[in-house]
Amino acid sequence: MKVLVTGGLGFIGSHTVVELQAQGYEVVIIDNLSNSTLDVLNGIEKISGKAPLFENLDLRNKSEVQRFFSQYSDIEGVIHFAASKAVGESVENPLLYYENNLSALIYLLQELQKKTEVSFIFSSSCTVYGQAEKMPIMEDAPIQEAFSPYGNTKQIGEEIISDVAKVSGINAVLLRYFNPIGAHETNFLGELPIGVPQNLVPFITQTAMGLRQKLAVFGDDYDTIDGTCVRDYIHVVDLAQAHVLALKRLLSKQQTEKVEVFNVGTGKGSSVLEVIQAFERVSGKQLPYQIVGRREGDITTAYANTDKANDVLGWKALKTLDEALLSAWNWEQKIRSV
Ligand code: UD1
Repeated sequence: MKVLVTGGLGFIGSHTVVELQAQGYEVVIIDNLSNSTLDVLNGIEKISGKAPLFENLDLRNKSEVQRFFSQYSDIEGVIHFAASKAVGESVENPLLYYENNLSALIYLLQELQKKTEVSFIFSSSCTVYGQAEKMPIMEDAPIQEAFSPYGNTKQIGEEIISDVAKVSGINAVLLRYFNPIGAHETNFLGELPIGVPQNLVPFITQTAMGLRQKLAVFGDDYDTIDGTCVRDYIHVVDLAQAHVLALKRLLSKQQTEKVEVFNVGTGKGSSVLEVIQAFERVSGKQLPYQIVGRREGDITTAYANTDKANDVLGWKALKTLDEALLSAWNWEQKIRSV
């Protein structure tokens, strides 16, 4: 069975491709290399022993998207990762985000709605909940006004998919990710942030590597266990496996609604200081850090209630924070040594 993975050379996309291949799916990747490199294809092939089909294509190019689907008319499932994801950049350049994240989605769906039936999985984010009132966050928690254009594209994306699914053969799963971190255990795949990392874990590993002087911890006056923000850090391989199970559910027609939503997290919250301590423990390195002011737009606490994914998808995060941090550290050391 042929499955399209858009953004399949990205961090979460590439890990999902190898999990799909391990389950016997034939994968076609679309990626425009805007935040990835062709080396990732080699990493995938080293792990799975199989080269996925690859099209260097920008989904904003409508005629190219049309051409793609006339060539690959036998695609039965699509996992749509391709999108821009830097919150700060989205505030500075909102139209880039609305164009890239939404026109790509629309062009894809325009082709997919021509099919009698197709399974569609969308990369959404816990950002849609904003600062939820109750922890852990359930899927029916209210969606709150987005903090950034990036967050807004995820909310609007979810709405577009829901509207289109109602009137087409598209069946969809929206996966709301918490904070994906880590790298593949083989060390052939991991995160490749371009420029100064905005996210916590790549910033930590680069600091431990000596590429950054010290980590700035954004605020220690939050109402949390130690004053720093709490997040739900999930190993990227666990997250990748959730996509495969969601796809199987759709392909085997087990879904009970045209669009189903699942949180994908571990269910456990960790503060920034707890992450630093865990990193120091697994790496044996002391991490230079300094508490600075709050980062605008940060929420205090977010961690998932994962009962729905556990019960309905039969999925559970298996890897610990320590394992995830160690894999991220191994990966950082590897990419700096070549
Ligand atoms: C961020 C986005 C989220 C997006 C996700 C994608 C914001 C407000 N949210 O999540 O919408 O889906 O990335 O990956 O940007 N921290 C530091 N120092 C740093 C970096 C981070 O203290 O140098 C802290 C942050 O304050 C936060 C935690 O570490 O408490 C995690 O930050 P980050 O990795 O950027 O993820 P989120 O902000 O949760």
